[in-house]
Amino acid sequence: MDKLTSLAKRRGFVFQSSEIYGGLAATFDYGPMGVELKRNIKDVWWDAMTKSHDNIVGLDAAILMNPRVWEASGHVAGFSDPMIDDKTSKFRYRADHLIEGYIKQLERKGKVEEASRVMAAFVEAQNADDMPRALYNLIITEQIKSPDSGAFDWTEVRQFNLMFKTSLGAIAGEGADVYLRPETAQGIFVNFHTVREASRLQVPFGIAQIGKAFRNEIVKGNFIFRMLEFEQMEMQYFVKPNTQAAAFEMWKEERMRWHTESLGIAPEKLSFYKHDKLAHYADAAFDIKYQFPFGTEEVEGIHSRTDFDLKRHQEFSGKSMEYFDQELKEKYLPFVVETSVGCDRAFLEVLCDAYSEAEEEGETHVTLKLRPRLAPVKAAVFPLMKKEGMPEVGEKLVKELQRSFKVQYDAAGSIGKRYYRQDEIGTPFCFTIDHDTLKDETVTVRYRDTAAQERISLAQVKSFLTEKLSE
Ligand code: GAP
Repeated sequence: MDKLTSLAKRRGFVFQSSEIYGGLAATFDYGPMGVELKRNIKDVWWDAMTKSHDNIVGLDAAILMNPRVWEASGHVAGFSDPMIDDKTSKFRYRADHLIEGYIKQLERKGKVEEASRVMAAFVEAQNADDMPRALYNLIITEQIKSPDSGAFDWTEVRQFNLMFKTSLGAIAGEGADVYLRPETAQGIFVNFHTVREASRLQVPFGIAQIGKAFRNEIVKGNFIFRMLEFEQMEMQYFVKPNTQAAAFEMWKEERMRWHTESLGIAPEKLSFYKHDKLAHYADAAFDIKYQFPFGTEEVEGIHSRTDFDLKRHQEFSGKSMEYFDQELKEKYLPFVVETSVGCDRAFLEVLCDAYSEAEEEGETHVTLKLRPRLAPVKAAVFPLMKKEGMPEVGEKLVKELQRSFKVQYDAAGSIGKRYYRQDEIGTPFCFTIDHDTLKDETVTVRYRDTAAQERISLAQVKSFLTEKLSE
């Protein structure tokens, strides 16, 4: 992760937010290469949802919503994490993460039996009626110390709501409390009728949305894996009651295929995780997990949310959320299957999966083996020398390609160094203009992953790229 974090900074993928002021925990900025990669990930998700399915349409709902939305959704009452404070260092931790860290520590030390004993007690504590107290008791009996100060000086475990609150209105104190949305999904639920009517859709249909979400989480490390402000790509699929199991299976498979085929992730690094303990609104839930360098963790959730959300919004708003099924000639509240993937997590998954190193002449050479469709820069053009008309031919080619692709022109340093610079940002194809180009109008194309080279005609470069990028 250290190598990846440093590459991400050096090559302009991700920076610590407000770094000149010492940063702000768990907030990050996407640099020039990062925004391109992130945009490409969003595009392949958007295409997979709204272009590949004619019964899925898009939405971009506001981040701030009527606060009653969050009462109806259950977030005001129940969207909280168990927190514990180290009284010596004043650092705050998530109690469950503290115990998980302790279990991992035991495993690393080879204390396998002890680790599985604590794991069993942990699972029991998470299912206890008084979960915060049960977690606290486990921390105390196992004498788990603070990771930062080493102290054993804990407060009780308390539940903290994760929603960021702000005030509406010009004069502080006089406004009503409003929240920064902790998930994009609720913007979709409250628009169920408006979108359906405007798009003349009939159940089953889906609404897809990409947008920022905010959670006041306690975060320790792991780069952009868990942040206070992040982007979600969510799709709510509305189905007839009692057909949700089939829709759930369909989406489970389709979403896994998106990770392997659209993102190009190695299938052996991906797995499903079935939730046995379900959220109050769900009748089934699976995560798609990726094997990150720091552990196998969730990148996406697929949840069968029943009719909970529509029912609650109907109750709290007093407006019917029922749907009239023209075929069945009956009214019902549709059930919902949700697919929810973090854009930043998918970004990290893609970076981790693409990162590869090779030792060459005593130097470490990094290549990001990104799918061409995702690569921030699709091609680079190099004049072999800054003379004999080579720069002019290169610049002309770049201008022509830039109408369709993100392309870079690089004339600085040796060709080898220029290749390395492009490999580090994952550019799949480099074209070199040399003496032969001036004679026969051909260029050398060099493939990033194999370093293989071939000659193609200058006039074919654009169609070559078009073909390769659509593969
Ligand atoms: N609407 C359902 C929902 O929000 P979730 O499992 O809480 O479900 C869905 O979140 C996805 O959002 C996760 O799988 C993860 O990829 C991403 N996500 C959640 N919290 C995050 C955070 N603090 N930072 C980055 N991504 C996060």
